[in-house]
Amino acid sequence: MRLTTTRTERPKAKPDDRKLGFGNLFTDHMFNMDYTQEKGWHNPRIEPYAPLVLDPATMVLHYGQAVFEGLKAYRTPQGGIQLFRPQANLKRMNRSCRILCIPEFDEGFVLEALKDLLRLDKDWVPSAPETSLYIRPTIIATDPFLGVRASTSYRFFIILSPVGAYYPEGFNPVKIWVTREHVRAVRGGIGEAKTPGNYAASLLAGQKAHDAGYTQVLWLDGVEQRLVEEVGSMNIFFVIDGEVITPELNGSILPGVTRDSVLSLARHWNLRVRECKVSIDDVVAAHADGRLQEIFGSGTAAVISPVGEIRYGDRCLSVGDGAVGPIARRLYTALTDIQYGRAENHAGWVVPVA
Ligand code: COI
Repeated sequence: MRLTTTRTERPKAKPDDRKLGFGNLFTDHMFNMDYTQEKGWHNPRIEPYAPLVLDPATMVLHYGQAVFEGLKAYRTPQGGIQLFRPQANLKRMNRSCRILCIPEFDEGFVLEALKDLLRLDKDWVPSAPETSLYIRPTIIATDPFLGVRASTSYRFFIILSPVGAYYPEGFNPVKIWVTREHVRAVRGGIGEAKTPGNYAASLLAGQKAHDAGYTQVLWLDGVEQRLVEEVGSMNIFFVIDGEVITPELNGSILPGVTRDSVLSLARHWNLRVRECKVSIDDVVAAHADGRLQEIFGSGTAAVISPVGEIRYGDRCLSVGDGAVGPIARRLYTALTDIQYGRAENHAGWVVPVA
């Protein structure tokens, strides 16, 4: 397969790096590739960023057969550009494809195409502190057909968005709301895939949390609403009695790349680390006994996000003294130092682009 490139004739004005929000601005170019049963994945191309023109019967619009990823490119102090663990994201995307009956793609080819796209739009990688270029690879089902089955044709696209912090709080502690009324996913479902349906399932509870003054929802398991799962835009970690604890991957939790990086760094530092079943009652009990030292989330968009308060029923648990905990801070610093190239390339996680 040969990648072709068509440059835009109308480059957009670049935003002010210091005023970036999250996910509202897009660069000049995008990657596109198509799939049909006859040709497999074909016609990979970099083109000017443009709207997709879709038949109203396009399957993804009706049955949600789609997968996506989120990863970032960072500007180094020397002005270079690098990716953080892109192979892990593309591997997870293929895993999501298997769950959603979407044909897998060649991860190595797409990584090289992404690097070409980044080199073309390199001036869009911001350099203000805590900014990056968020990368959104997506695959959608494109048969124009209303019967329920897997599509026979697909579009793969990658768009790029210069971003600042995901949460308005930045690295300051967020407040999260634990719901027993709603569930995000159940084992055997699509909870471990990065697919739009999981996010659609989170909206109503998210709105209620927001109305009650909380930033995010902490999801419990879909069967008994007893075991902690994830936050939807992040995986969740607890520090209890000095031990770093996170819910084990059980089929309904997204296997986060940042989650894996946190576990790996914490083990590298010889901290006590455990992936296990975490019940919300254990968290409440640890809080009551003064053993709950920190809670933080991890995600590509959110990086490390300290949690200052959780609301569970009529209980309001404030975590630590409401300030950022030492382990969250250490992880945030270590991860961002690696991502931005201020520290050595730990475990080969960083892939230089330009
Ligand atoms: C990410 O962290 O990349 C996510 O996909 C979370 C959210 C923006 C959907």
